[in-house]
Amino acid sequence: MPRIVVTRSIPEPALELLRTAGEVDEFGAERAMTPDELREAVRGADAVVTAIPDRIDDAVAEAAGPQLRVVSTIAVGYDNLDVPALAARGVEVTNTPGVLVEATADITWGLLLSVTRRLGEGERLLRARQPWAFSLSFMLGTGLQDKTLGIVGLGHIGQAVARRGRAFGMEIAYSGRRRVDDDVESELDARFMELPELLEYADVVSLHCPLTPETRHLIDDAALRRMRSTAILVNTSRGPVVDEDALANALGRDEIAGAALDVFEDEPRVHPGLLDRDDVALAPHLGSATVETRTEMAMLAARNVVGVLGGDGPVTPIR
Ligand code: DGY
Repeated sequence: MPRIVVTRSIPEPALELLRTAGEVDEFGAERAMTPDELREAVRGADAVVTAIPDRIDDAVAEAAGPQLRVVSTIAVGYDNLDVPALAARGVEVTNTPGVLVEATADITWGLLLSVTRRLGEGERLLRARQPWAFSLSFMLGTGLQDKTLGIVGLGHIGQAVARRGRAFGMEIAYSGRRRVDDDVESELDARFMELPELLEYADVVSLHCPLTPETRHLIDDAALRRMRSTAILVNTSRGPVVDEDALANALGRDEIAGAALDVFEDEPRVHPGLLDRDDVALAPHLGSATVETRTEMAMLAARNVVGVLGGDGPVTPIR
């Protein structure tokens, strides 16, 4: 009977599906397992179901043993997996693209509206029982209609964010490694720009690229200096895409008008220079955190394991 190690607590339907393919050991960790805990947990595993931020590298695969056949992460981003090292051992590596697109686009917009319409700031004021009164000049925010939404990485999530942007009356610009298909460009009425031009042009810059060596600190001091002083930076991709020191400094110098962040460079730590600012909206990595989406993600991760162990192959392999 194959041994399937699940590092996290996952929805019961996904566990049930996994049990059709092997004996399941659910560790149910609600935090990142330490490297020692991980190596111990995976010993003898044929399949490992994991999630960010467990780091699954060659040492973990070595600890598992030569029978390891699949590492299935419950996430679309997989910067926590050493894919080349796992592939070199013949281990299939899978993720869960597609199913979290709409949930992540929703949280992107929630955060963007939170910062532009000062929702967090307003709520903090009320909860602090501060005096307030309606007035025509009280807590004015910034409207988004007729402004430009600049998307960095117009993949599935970027497109879903852009579609919502169109519904809010925004113009769409995007940058990325390559242009998207003409039909996507025309559906969104999206203009391609190189990143420096996009940073100078957009009123909102929203990041939807994966974390790779090329995108680490893509938004650094120089990039922030290119942005408009009225612009908002939104990050629901991966924290290290933004240099947080540079971001805190740029906000402190009023070089940009605000930021909306769901992800952080060194999660779960949040840069202290961002914590006390009213021009920053924060969420604790909630992009895909709905019951429906997390269930679909876990089910897809389980189908990947069942496919590999059953010989049909993975549904959504990382190649
Ligand atoms: C992902 O899937 O990469 C998300 O960040 C998890 O919420």
